[in-house]
Amino acid sequence: KIVPVIMAGGKGTRLWPLSRSTAPKQFLQFLSEHSLFQKTLQRVSDPEIYAPAVIVTNAEFRFIVAEQAQAVGAPLSSILLEPVARNTAPALAAAAFVVARDHGDAAILQVLASDHEIEANDTYRACIGLARETAAAGMLVTFGITPTEPATGYGYIEIGAALAGGARTVARFVEKPNREKAEALLATGRYLWNSGMFMLPTRLFLADLATFAPEVHASARAAVEASRRDLDFERLDAAAFSQAPDISVDYAVFERTAHAAVVPSSFPWSDLGSWDSVWAVGEKDAAGNVVGQKANVSDTRNSLVLSRDIHVSVHGLDDIAVIASEDAVYVGRLADSQNVGQIVKALARNE
Ligand code: GDD
Ligand code: MG
Repeated sequence: KIVPVIMAGGKGTRLWPLSRSTAPKQFLQFLSEHSLFQKTLQRVSDPEIYAPAVIVTNAEFRFIVAEQAQAVGAPLSSILLEPVARNTAPALAAAAFVVARDHGDAAILQVLASDHEIEANDTYRACIGLARETAAAGMLVTFGITPTEPATGYGYIEIGAALAGGARTVARFVEKPNREKAEALLATGRYLWNSGMFMLPTRLFLADLATFAPEVHASARAAVEASRRDLDFERLDAAAFSQAPDISVDYAVFERTAHAAVVPSSFPWSDLGSWDSVWAVGEKDAAGNVVGQKANVSDTRNSLVLSRDIHVSVHGLDDIAVIASEDAVYVGRLADSQNVGQIVKALARNE
């Protein structure tokens, strides 16, 4: 069986003011009954295919993780807690050591981001099947989405030689290029977006990690060896884990390994990284508006209006985002949503 590893420790500042440091994007229930984290758990709930999931998250999110997992009845193998945020490489490394300990290092693990909107249709299932076979044949597998714009928030994968079943080797991996470079990559027609989801043979992943990011490997291993139980949680050893450098798994392993493969994927996928992508996947009225429960619009087109507590009414405006939480309101052009992260950083500095 595949062991699912769900990374749920990110902070997601670009969806401010609904996404806050205490309740980041993956735990929000906007436009849906379940949060993105809960929908992620549901995608790996088939007991024929999957073992119970390993969640890796920051210690401060432990109760929201436990509560939301219980609410959807998801069986969990463990909830691993990071004492400090060190980005995805140390988090995933620790999870891989836990999988090796609990399931053996021959296990295949599927890494899932917890903050994506994915439609798990037949195409999706076929991609998962192919990724599993490709991983079993000794590759670190990524999922490549056909790019639609020169986005700067994604990793890009250049497709290489054909492998069995339609997978490809990765000729090159370029994490988060600037605008100019992204445009150049897109123009070649040879690049796909990295979806942030991986299928990995545990032993090979840990071996490559030891080669390309030895400090991450050593500190994660020590943090798991000295971890301790706390109720339903497993706390990674703080002294060991804080030694880990702050680095993403894309930089630490995927840009460097010779074992990367990509499964070209065409299932509906969105990173929901900013308000314009929330608008894009949302259900629209006849005028192209996505309007949440506590909101209404008139003489307004192609806009996103969401509110959690207070009533928000928008009249006579086009192409905007209006997002209200209990103590903050954001109003801006929908097309400029990528800048929200910068605004939040500036706010944090002024506090
Ligand atoms: N446990 C844990 N600890 N999880 C983390 C941490 C951490 O320190 N930091 C981030 N995560 C989680 C996030 O919650 C998310 O589910 C996932 O790991 C990916 O992290 P992001 O911070 O959202 O990464 P990104 O979106 O900037 O970039 C990654 O995803 C893109 C696709 O959305 C990269 O893999 C890109 O190459 C990729 O294109
Ligand atoms: Mg992300």
